[in-house]
Amino acid sequence: MGEILGLGVTHYPPLSGTDDNLSAVFRGALADPLLPTELKDPANWPERARREWSDDEGRAAGRLHREQLREGFKRTRKALDEFQPDVVLIWGDDQYENFREDIVPPYAVLAYDDMVVHPWKHTHDSSNMKGKPNVWGEGPDTERVVRGHRTFAKQLVESLLNAGFDTPYSYQQLHHPSFAHAFLNTVLYLDYDREGFDYPVVAFPINCYGRKVISYKGDITPLGVERELDPPSPSPARIMDLGAAVARACIESPYRVALVGSSSWSHSFLVDSTSRLFPDSASDERMYDALVRGDYDTWRATTLEDAEKSGQQELLNWWALLGAMEEVGRTPTWSSFAASNIFVSNKVFAVYESGAKS
Ligand SMILES: [Fe+2]
Repeated sequence: MGEILGLGVTHYPPLSGTDDNLSAVFRGALADPLLPTELKDPANWPERARREWSDDEGRAAGRLHREQLREGFKRTRKALDEFQPDVVLIWGDDQYENFREDIVPPYAVLAYDDMVVHPWKHTHDSSNMKGKPNVWGEGPDTERVVRGHRTFAKQLVESLLNAGFDTPYSYQQLHHPSFAHAFLNTVLYLDYDREGFDYPVVAFPINCYGRKVISYKGDITPLGVERELDPPSPSPARIMDLGAAVARACIESPYRVALVGSSSWSHSFLVDSTSRLFPDSASDERMYDALVRGDYDTWRATTLEDAEKSGQQELLNWWALLGAMEEVGRTPTWSSFAASNIFVSNKVFAVYESGAKS
């Protein structure tokens, strides 16, 4: 019988960059010529945004935000090391990286073998790091091995098919030379101190960007640009059911599996109600409150339209995690909410350990 650890993290791309880069998206949104005039004046911003922006354009707040995120990764990595997984399954979004015009699956299992990745050569535009220095000072030739676990991945696909979830899989990359940023950044940040990350990884992309995955390339777009939308993502409730089926498959397997939901929460550049300047923090706080209380009904009742309105497209990765945790009867043993109005998004970390530790 298998064992499960649940983890929720972020893969926030600017964390890879230097502190000066942390407010770059916000500064870009502020400079949008179509931003309503009143929003250009900090006096009209939410209190937290004013406090973060302060008199140094967010520099001190950025350093603090980075420390909060580092702490979150320290706690989640510690739980991972204590659990000693055979495999780490990561739910993440593919932001027009590996899946493009020729195929966009609702979700998929990437049953890759071990892979040599070049984080700074393979960085796709969507991670906003192209040509920018990274916080580790690593050069373009830096490489690292991300181990795979094809045997587990194949068994998982078979279990999901048997459970009525028709699950696409692949043995090699399509358009991205290694891993899309959601997966690569998760590994890079769980190894923020660069002590190594030797656990095999199975990436489980979810089509989080749905209507905007090809039309907007899942990316930041200036105000006023309207494009013909794509078909939607799968619904949150369906993704919770999928997460539950993954949990059952892992329990029935012989493996110790860490299930990782990876994404920041509401993204400022997807929230029309704030003119794409701020994330929908009220909605994030509601969802976080439900997460802490183990109120899975609130998560299940949230519709795809609610999520899109709140800029919570990427939260589908957490919906999968919560579906899995509901299935195995867990509530978080630790969690944190790193609030931010000017660094694109609020970020949440969560650890779901089993009561019976071995
Ligand atoms: Fe993402």
